[in-house]
Amino acid sequence: MVKLKTEEEIALIKESSLILGKALAEAAKILKPGITGLEVDKLIETFIKDQGAVPSFKNYRGYPFSICYSVNDAVVHGFPTEVVLKEGDIVSVDCGVFLNGFHSDSAYTFAVGEVPAKVVKLMKVTKECLYRGIESAVAGKRVGDIGHAVQSYAESNGYTVVRELVGHGLGKDLHEEPEVPNYGKRGNGSVLKPNTVIAIEPMINLGKREVKTLKDGWTVVTRDGSPSAHYEHTVVIRNGKAEILTSFEFTEIEIKNNKNLTYI
Ligand code: MF3
Ligand code: CO
Repeated sequence: MVKLKTEEEIALIKESSLILGKALAEAAKILKPGITGLEVDKLIETFIKDQGAVPSFKNYRGYPFSICYSVNDAVVHGFPTEVVLKEGDIVSVDCGVFLNGFHSDSAYTFAVGEVPAKVVKLMKVTKECLYRGIESAVAGKRVGDIGHAVQSYAESNGYTVVRELVGHGLGKDLHEEPEVPNYGKRGNGSVLKPNTVIAIEPMINLGKREVKTLKDGWTVVTRDGSPSAHYEHTVVIRNGKAEILTSFEFTEIEIKNNKNLTYI
């Protein structure tokens, strides 16, 4: 069952989302060659707790960290580790914030130093897939319209869409109905109703679409080893145009200030 939110509840999710937007910006301040995922995890966790909020992912179904940190061929759900970033890596930082009883969920893929042009293009197209998905997330349209918008743009650029993981409703729980696949057909799936809150999160591969999960039980990687990009916003369905609750604004300011990152 899809739980429609009241305006009061949406305002609470927006507060949670604001902290999340600023938490991802903390990552943008410190990412550079030589840094470890564990350092980024610690910084973000401390930031979220200092705001009086709780990291949504920590202990969620046994997940051991506050962020997912997915480098290069890791698609999503990567563990932050002692491994250092190097020039040319891309890393998706995915995080959730729980505040006042409500979750928010957002992810951004960062380019460390100079990244090969074809990987830059993958990141650009994936971010655009997210925004095209959001443009289709309008009351009266269907879940399949979102997936179609994402898939058609990704595939028309020669990339592939990961099928095994999907976007989702969220609110009191991190994962609620509906499921929001990044593939689909126009006019398919359930009708989108105003005040539905969903996370849209395209995961797009440079190579083949197949993925596998590593022995840690979490990290999802591309089977062919090709790079993968991932961007995610929490949005609320409205009549006319979805309202984006999370924000990349703080993050993108910090990327532009950080000489060790390339703004895509
Ligand atoms: N954005 C990811 C998702 O919705 C977050 C995973 S949360 C985790 O699947 F805790 F399971 F890692
Ligand atoms: Co999510």
